[in-house]
Amino acid sequence: MTSDMGGKTVVITGAAGGVGAAAAKRFAEAGAALVLGDLAAVALEELCGRLAAISEVHGVVCDVTSVADVENLMAEAVDATGRIDVLVNTAGLWVEGPSEEMTEADWDRVVDVNLKGTFFACSCAIPELKKTEGCIINLSSDCGLVGTPETAIYTASKGGVSLMTKALAIELAPHLVRVNAVCPADIMTPMLQYQADTYGGGDPEGYFKRLLTGYFQGDKARFITPEEVAELIFFLASAPAAPITGANISIDFGTSAGYGYAE
Ligand SMILES: NC(=O)c1ccc[n+]([C@@H]2O[C@H](COP(=O)([O-])OP(=O)(O)OC[C@H]3O[C@@H](n4cnc5c(N)ncnc54)[C@H](O)[C@@H]3O)[C@@H](O)[C@H]2O)c1
Repeated sequence: MTSDMGGKTVVITGAAGGVGAAAAKRFAEAGAALVLGDLAAVALEELCGRLAAISEVHGVVCDVTSVADVENLMAEAVDATGRIDVLVNTAGLWVEGPSEEMTEADWDRVVDVNLKGTFFACSCAIPELKKTEGCIINLSSDCGLVGTPETAIYTASKGGVSLMTKALAIELAPHLVRVNAVCPADIMTPMLQYQADTYGGGDPEGYFKRLLTGYFQGDKARFITPEEVAELIFFLASAPAAPITGANISIDFGTSAGYGYAE
């Protein structure tokens, strides 16, 4: 693995989750110091234990819906390593179902984590990112780019993340701070397993099969791996991505590219 992140500090929210942990490992292998935030204290501690063998790592229990927690996460990063070069926002929640059955609590929970949490993590990191001419990578979704049925709340939150990413990119360009989003389709992570367990009507395998029938690859369709998304995140934080800012980059087997033709 390359060591071109040596001397840099990467902050990741939702780090104990599927994408967050894969991204943390990828940056650790490249020599970055890691400051990892998550609400799930036990999983976070386990992850930090595993990664400590590879690179410098600091875990901070952090609820991204609390601005005070997010401020503390960034302050811990600066206290421990003196800088922030990369912020990766992966903390996220899923909800689905007919919109007439959604509750105010569903909206508040999902929008608070996915949109408010992402915004304030960016906001709190900006002063340090300006000093390092660093970058932000936000986790949006194919649902941030196109509408899908029975996902209005999640889609609203990710659509917000995608457009907010563009606004921040323009705002921060004069400071050479880059802001991009990645927009994956279904990744095999605890979130996808939660979806299948919660909304699969007692048949999680059936839920997975139904998802894959929405892909253009037919019987060769498969889920994306967290490592594939981590590689894209890593690329966006690396030197060859210097001209890329304000982009929403799809990693979705074409799910957001357009309509298929009926056979
Ligand atoms: N898995 C997918 O199919 C998929 C597809 C497209 C986009 N995404 C997005 O990618 C991101 C990562 O998803 P994942 O699949 O790794 O999910 P995951 O459930 O595996 O991980 C999410 C992590 O966020 C943490 N988290 C939740 N609420 C939090 C809060 N309030 N404060 C701090 N941490 C909190 C969880 O503890 C968990 O560790 C999410 O933003 C998700 O919406 C996922």
